Amino acid sequence: MDKPKVVLGVSGGIAAYKACELLRRLTESGHDVRVVPTASALHFVGAATWSALSGNPVSTEVWDDVHEVPHVRIGQQADLVVVAPATADTLARAAHGLADDLLTNTLLTARCPVVFAPAMHTEMWEHPATQDNVATLRARGAVVVEPAVGRLTGVDTGKGRLPDPAEIFEVCRRVLARGTAGPDLAGRHVVVSAGGTREPLDPVRFLGNRSSGKQGYALARTAAARGARVTLVAANAALPDPAGVDVVPVGTALELREAVIRAAADADAVVMAAAVADFRPAAYAAGKIKKKDGQEPEPVALVRNPDVLAEIAAGRARPGQVIVGFAAETDDVLANGRAKLKRKGCDLLVVNEVGERRTFGSEENEAVVLGADGSETPVPHGPKEALADTVWDLVAGRLA
Ligand SMILES: Cc1cc2nc3c(=O)[nH]c(=O)nc-3n(C[C@H](O)[C@H](O)[C@H](O)COP(=O)(O)O)c2cc1C
Repeated sequence: MDKPKVVLGVSGGIAAYKACELLRRLTESGHDVRVVPTASALHFVGAATWSALSGNPVSTEVWDDVHEVPHVRIGQQADLVVVAPATADTLARAAHGLADDLLTNTLLTARCPVVFAPAMHTEMWEHPATQDNVATLRARGAVVVEPAVGRLTGVDTGKGRLPDPAEIFEVCRRVLARGTAGPDLAGRHVVVSAGGTREPLDPVRFLGNRSSGKQGYALARTAAARGARVTLVAANAALPDPAGVDVVPVGTALELREAVIRAAADADAVVMAAAVADFRPAAYAAGKIKKKDGQEPEPVALVRNPDVLAEIAAGRARPGQVIVGFAAETDDVLANGRAKLKRKGCDLLVVNEVGERRTFGSEENEAVVLGADGSETPVPHGPKEALADTVWDLVAGRLA
């Protein structure tokens, strides 16, 4: 079988050197990579490096090897185009359909999935011009991964950092694996909650649960690879931030509620995979609760937390917004799931059986997705990403 053909576009940002690592990962995993740098990119990493690492010729403009018409052929033959780093300038040229170098010509002739990994200073990223260009590219079906937050060029820190090359590689791998199915969530904003809330009792103790966050993180990663803009509201998950995803860390159920409601305001879908505590301690002790000799401890009084899933389902922020809940049940799984779906008023409910050694923390899951329309989609035992993809298939169907 022919190797999948990947075009690696590199534009003129300080993070261009990190694209060497992405290139290495792509070639070592069996892809035929053609690097198309911009002229500015060559100020950072020279053509010799790209050519030697890829084993292919390198050019920045349309006037080399004209008999092979590279300005159309490279894009036409590609299975994937990934631009990493994508500068503010390259995003603008791509959004406006300019074709003033080999990379922008390639972007116009490619009919395969396109991934942009922007990297720039926070001010450039937040500028309305850049945000509009990103929205245009997403609306046209491109996957634009959100930049990471961290150290930037010079002394600055903030949003705009190129995500880890390993993470960008994972996005590329997932996009390629979808083949012709393509990025069906491009132009959509989805909110995913993940992890488990912690309800503090005193400064050192809390009521928590066993949710690892892995299912929610798998939902966030797969949605990003399908082109969605993803907000991940993460409650106490000790997992690395998925590339291209906006992560909002929260601790308690009340914090999670606030973050989900804020992010849901312009979301097309909200998937509540987090385990949100039903109750919290009625009182919080400002100092550590101490043992007292000869005395039994005071019982802990609990109060109910708000039901975030029912609340967002009842007050959908926009018409057609798809709301998905998760139900972790220990017995009578389907009957309890059906009752919960009705009670919560969501569109889909993913029901799975949990126990000390089942689901929580594991890499795999098995579930049934119940639909408010009476549908029942069984998902056999398998990776949490497979369940995540089934959820997005069902969500995409409802959004369409
Ligand atoms: C040291 C240095 C670092 C730069 N880093 C970035 C960057 O990270 N992101 C960005 O959008 N532009 C960055 N620029 C500005 C771009 O190089 C400039 O906008 C250029 O025109 C981009 O051209 P291109 O999009 O064709 O590659 C940087 C410029 C310099 C001199």
